[in-house]
Amino acid sequence: MRLKKPQGTEDILPEQIPLWRYLEDTVRNTFERYNYSEIRTPIMEFYSLFNRSIGETTDIIEKEMYFLRTREHEEGTKDLLTLRPELTAPIVRAYLEHNFDKTRSFQKWYYYGPLFRHERPQKGRLRQFHQIGVEVLGSYDAFSDVEVIDLAMTLLRLLGINDCQLDLNSMGCPDCRKTYSKALREALEGSVSKLCENCQQRFNKNILRILDCKDKRCYEISFNIASLDRYLCQRCNEHFRKVKKGLEDNRIAYRLNNRLVRGFDYYTKTVFEITHSGLGAQNALCGGGRYDGLIAQFGGPPTGAVGFAMGVERIIEVLAAKKRIEPRGPSVYLAVTDESLKSECYKLLRELRENLVSAEMDYEQKSLKAQFRNADRIKARFVAVLGTKELSKGTVTLKEMATGKEREVELKSLVETIKE
Ligand code: HAM
Repeated sequence: MRLKKPQGTEDILPEQIPLWRYLEDTVRNTFERYNYSEIRTPIMEFYSLFNRSIGETTDIIEKEMYFLRTREHEEGTKDLLTLRPELTAPIVRAYLEHNFDKTRSFQKWYYYGPLFRHERPQKGRLRQFHQIGVEVLGSYDAFSDVEVIDLAMTLLRLLGINDCQLDLNSMGCPDCRKTYSKALREALEGSVSKLCENCQQRFNKNILRILDCKDKRCYEISFNIASLDRYLCQRCNEHFRKVKKGLEDNRIAYRLNNRLVRGFDYYTKTVFEITHSGLGAQNALCGGGRYDGLIAQFGGPPTGAVGFAMGVERIIEVLAAKKRIEPRGPSVYLAVTDESLKSECYKLLRELRENLVSAEMDYEQKSLKAQFRNADRIKARFVAVLGTKELSKGTVTLKEMATGKEREVELKSLVETIKE
């Protein structure tokens, strides 16, 4: 039986790593230029962290959580452990657990890591995927929203992705949402039976999500209903006005999308999504927004917060269509003319590596010709040939692969010659 990876997971093979590294380096440089510090939290967390924050009636909580079973849990003594489906709630947990709210309440953090959602796998939708993201904790300032959106757009531009679309909306505070939900319920009451099955349930449990439904009938039914921005209270309106102005002043193009209601209960005020047309149905590269109620909901003081997360596999997919990054080979490949020289060869290999020169040799007892082919395949810059005669003189033959130029080099100056 051939072994297989679980459905909805991916192996990232060595030849794909250069593109991932390019992305990771650009991400870290950009986030740090905006003065965000990295935070790393566990991959497993308690279930109660997520059902309390994401919301009991969301798809993630209802259908997509992975649970971990241990003996202890089977005996029912502990809160259930889960694989994290997102990182905003864990970040808030870490913020409160380490008392940042009491000591240094303003924090700008970034993260990068794997997440798990038991979704139906399809192109662009995995069960294990990676996110990069940022969270600003401790600020109600509209310029935090502007900075976070600016950062997402700048990062994509620096990666070479210019052709994406930024959608913006405000979901208001719980008060605005309550009034709007009531209005929505009244407007949709007569058409509930015409909605898709999912939205019929949403009508009772999470009515705002009907606006986000991809079903054509639901879209048409809810199309003419007054949008949420008409129901924003004065404070939420003013905040939204500042965010829009900040984006306009900095020429960050956005499209107002009053149907954008993100799939987590914790959002307040600003929400946004960045999509790319080259991706197919799962076209969101980035999603984010403000969540001013979450820290207080977990027992902290009222604290403003805003952030975003991007799907790394989706960015890689867009990048792979635009860019090819060749893997870099070692500086030098040591070839031997005779197996009996292997032990000398390995000593030299170690010496090169000790001197910070990347180096490789043959481990498959290949002929000299095949060793050269191997050096070429792994993209070594030089091949140094160790022969009996040369070694007795204390030299090797060094060939530069790109030019084909060969010369004899003294063993003791090999490191220097290669470094030059
Ligand atoms: P999200 O919209 O669920 O937001 O995820 C953000 C991004 O992760 C999506 O736009 C998409 O690129 C990627 N993504 C999500 N699910 C999958 C999947 N199954 N397979 C591949 N990629 C996926 C959040 O997670 C929020 N925590 C974002 C946030 C941070 N809001 C405020 N701060």
